Amino acid sequence: MGLMRMDALLVEARRKRMAIGGFECWSSAGARAIAEAAAECRMPVIFQATRAEYELMGGAAAMKAIVECYVEQAGIDAALHLDHGASMEEVRTCLDGGFSSVMLDASRLPLEENIAASSEAAGAAHEASCSIEAELGHVGGFEGDLEEVDDEQAGLTDPEEAERFVAETGIDCLAVGIGTVHGEYRREPNLDLDRLARIADRVPLPLVLHGGSGVTDELLLQAIERGIAKINICTDIHKVWIAAVTAARETRTPSLAGRYYEPAQEALKTSIAGIIQKFANGKSW
Ligand code: 13P
Repeated sequence: MGLMRMDALLVEARRKRMAIGGFECWSSAGARAIAEAAAECRMPVIFQATRAEYELMGGAAAMKAIVECYVEQAGIDAALHLDHGASMEEVRTCLDGGFSSVMLDASRLPLEENIAASSEAAGAAHEASCSIEAELGHVGGFEGDLEEVDDEQAGLTDPEEAERFVAETGIDCLAVGIGTVHGEYRREPNLDLDRLARIADRVPLPLVLHGGSGVTDELLLQAIERGIAKINICTDIHKVWIAAVTAARETRTPSLAGRYYEPAQEALKTSIAGIIQKFANGKSW
């Protein structure tokens, strides 16, 4: 029980052909909803934040203290992960702040530069006894405060390059480009599941799918069967939160603005529990 390295959870998830949800977290209400949903489902969970999100929570150390409090209260296994770290400075801030896992996203760079940057981040993470995720190929759409990547610039992961990338960087989890995008889909999501199977044949590590919102259950479950052990969810839970706060404003007294959070937190918890259950792929932890 408690906060642990993310790969400790994901290796087991890949072995069992299930996936663990990586949920974006931007407030203590959100952290509580994520922790309680995981406890209800008796599943581990990943709290994750981009720089914009951990800064909203008062910085990396403040976020760690808040998340750890809810993790202990709920009695769950969990990881606290930097999502889309954009620099070594962000990686170090989160390692120093007590995160148990980090991602350095150098996937926009040419292969050799991505390998060099990801190796450096892997060294720093391992020195701090934390796990590291890196990305090869590139997922399109919006990533936190980063610039939008249009679908044409988004790249699919080459299986042979993935094998080399993992061997040369020493990373623990690999995020792959197989056709998902961050944010809203402009056309029907269409995942390259054959490519995923070929990557999984060459890479025994847990594979990570970004851009999980808006993808059909059927495609997600097929991806889990082919080696995806972590699925990132942001847009879908943002929409749940905003809809619930908006609805609460219609019915609740404006003098107690904090009360808007109650139904939003409950709606978030229900939505996240449904997603966790789906990713369990009919199995128990
Ligand atoms: P969505 O916003 O599409 O759920 O993607 C989230 C994500 O991949 C964060 O890294």
